[in-house]
Amino acid sequence: MTDFAERYGPWAVVAGASEGLGASFAAGLARRGVHLVLVARRMPLLLRLADGLRSEHGVEVRCVALDLGDGAWPEALREATADVDLGLLVYNAAMVPVGRFVDVEGDALERSVRVNVLAPVRFLRAFLPTLCARGRGGVVLMSSLSGLQGTPRVATYAAAKAFNAILAEGLWHELRGDGVDVVACSAGAVPTPGYRRSTDRDAPGMLAPDVVANRTLEALGRGPGVVPGALNRFMAQVLRRVLPRRTAIRLMAANTRHLGDGPPP
Ligand SMILES: NC(=O)c1ccc[n+]([C@@H]2O[C@H](COP(=O)([O-])OP(=O)(O)OC[C@H]3O[C@@H](n4cnc5c(N)ncnc54)[C@H](OP(=O)(O)O)[C@@H]3O)[C@@H](O)[C@H]2O)c1
Repeated sequence: MTDFAERYGPWAVVAGASEGLGASFAAGLARRGVHLVLVARRMPLLLRLADGLRSEHGVEVRCVALDLGDGAWPEALREATADVDLGLLVYNAAMVPVGRFVDVEGDALERSVRVNVLAPVRFLRAFLPTLCARGRGGVVLMSSLSGLQGTPRVATYAAAKAFNAILAEGLWHELRGDGVDVVACSAGAVPTPGYRRSTDRDAPGMLAPDVVANRTLEALGRGPGVVPGALNRFMAQVLRRVLPRRTAIRLMAANTRHLGDGPPP
C-alpha cells in the first residue's frame, strides 16, 4: 500500500467523476492504490473509466449514477458505500451557467447553486462524521481563480467557487484535531470537456487535467488551499493582494467576455 493510500484510503468517493478533472482525480487516486466510488449522471462514461482503472491499476471501482442537483442522493450514496471504508471525499462536480445574470434562465442559476454549493455541503455532512470518528482522512473541494473576486458572465458560478474555498478553510482548521485534512483547489483554466463547452480558446497558464488533479492530491495535508501552476499562483497573488478589487473584476471580465462562444452542447 502507498503512503497516500494508508493516510487517505482505502476507499475514496469522487463526485463528478465521469470526465474532465474528476476522471483525472480518479486516475490519480487509482495510481496511488486507492479504491474508488465514482459518481456522476452518465453511467456509460463511469463504466468505461472504471474498466480502464481496474485493469491498469488493480484497484476496485464502484460506479454510482446520481444527479447531485436532485433530491435524496446523499441517502442513496450512503447505501451504495455502506460496506466500504471511506477515507477521502472529493467533490468535483460543477454546473456553469454562462452569460449575463439577467439573461440566464432562473432555473439554471438555481440548479447551479444546488450542484455547486448545496451538494458539497450535503456530501460532506453525510460522510465527514465517519471520517472524524475513524480519526483519519481527507477532503478535496474544487474552487477556481474565478472565485477570488466577482467574475462577470459566470457570476453565480464564481460566487459558488468562493463558497467552496472558504468552506474548505474553515473545515481545514476545524478538522485538524480529527485527523482529517482539507484542501480546496483554486484552478486556473483547464482544457476539460466542460471548459471546451464554454469556449474553444486557450487561456494563459492552462494546465492538463492530470497535472491539476495530481498537484491537488499532493497538496493534501499542506494547507487549506492550492493553486496549481506558477503563472496561476502569480495571478492569484495579483488578483488577491495587488490589484484594487474593481480592477481585478475588470481583468476577469476581459478574460470571460468570450465565454459561451464555444460549440453548442
Ligand atoms: N475546467 C476548468 O477550467 C476549471 C477551472 C477551475 C475550476 N474548475 C473546477 O473543476 C471541477 C471540474 O471541472 P471540469 O472542467 O472537469 O468539469 P466538466 O468537464 O464539466 O466535468 C464535470 C463533472 O461533474 C459531473 N457532474 C456535473 N453535474 C452533475 C450532477 N448534477 N450530478 C452528478 N455529476 C455531475 C459531470 O458528469 P455527468 O455530466 O456525467 O453527470 C462531470 O463528470 C469543477 O468543480 C470546476 O468548477 C474547472
